[in-house]
Amino acid sequence: MNVARVAIFTDDPGWHGQQLKLAFSLRGYVAEYVSLTKCKLVTDGHSLPIMIPGFEDKLPAAVFVRGVPGGSLEEVVFFLDILHALKILGIPVYNDAYAIEKSVDKGMTSFLLQQAGLPTPVTWEMRDRDEALCIIENELHQGRMVISKPLFGSQGEGIRRIEKMTDLFWLTSSRGIYYLQRFVQCGGVGFSDVRVFVINGHVVASMRRKGISWLNNVARGASCESIAADADMARLAVLATQALQMDYAGVDIIQDQQGNYTIIEVNSIPAWKGLQSVCDLNLAQLMVDDLLLRYLSDASLSERMT
Ligand SMILES: Nc1ncnc2c1ncn2[C@@H]1O[C@H](COP(=O)(O)OP(=O)(O)O)[C@@H](O)[C@H]1O
Ligand SMILES: [Mg+2]
Repeated sequence: MNVARVAIFTDDPGWHGQQLKLAFSLRGYVAEYVSLTKCKLVTDGHSLPIMIPGFEDKLPAAVFVRGVPGGSLEEVVFFLDILHALKILGIPVYNDAYAIEKSVDKGMTSFLLQQAGLPTPVTWEMRDRDEALCIIENELHQGRMVISKPLFGSQGEGIRRIEKMTDLFWLTSSRGIYYLQRFVQCGGVGFSDVRVFVINGHVVASMRRKGISWLNNVARGASCESIAADADMARLAVLATQALQMDYAGVDIIQDQQGNYTIIEVNSIPAWKGLQSVCDLNLAQLMVDDLLLRYLSDASLSERMT
């Protein structure tokens, strides 16, 4: 029998890779882990235009992007080119390169959220250091704190809070670019934000993340507690996912001291291990089924779904 094969792009399969592989296999698909660093674009007119290890004879039926490696500008552009090229060839890419580009770049995320009329903290992105210092001084004078983030960061890495003038001494750019954001004081007791998981325009799960400090990433020790997103929060998470044209997303939302929701981040390659630990639904299966149903029009899938 000719078994349909899909690729999971990752350099570190781990728990998430296993979950996806299992979810695909339960639907009759064989999923192979592939590193984008091992792929090639070839225009000799004979071979396949995209060479993917393990898929030399036939390109995958679909690809699930679990990771895009870092690297030089050329390397990252090349990895994204592979994803763009696959889509041009008609192969479903989940989430696609457009969504990944727009959300991995925090500056573009802020811009697109704001353009879509969605609540997100005031953000400044610039090259000029003096301008950056000036903006922070101004905010501090008005009694506000400022967050400095790496443009391409994740899991809370490299995020700093500027609380006082002396903090300006250590202000560093993200490879020449400053990404500054007004700090939002969360309401309630202690520190927390909410991670809302959206698949195909529907909220499937959400959890409150309670941080040890104001940094509420699970990777920074935040604890997870399942909560139901209310209608307002769910609406914002879905609109944010749509504004960035994502098939699925992990949306970070803070409730400020006035009770208003503010979107902090929209992740196109979110980890879901923490959320899965407090959620009954199989998130990997939901994503895989969404991919197979919507993009591969797998009509027999509904029969195989349990
Ligand atoms: N403007 C902000 N105001 C208050 N807290 C913030 C702000 N930006 C980020 N944080 C806190 O830092 C965490 C990580 O920030 P985020 O922008 O999501 O970056 P990362 O990609 O590293 O997760 C958030 O979940 C939130 O707890
Ligand atoms: Mg985040």
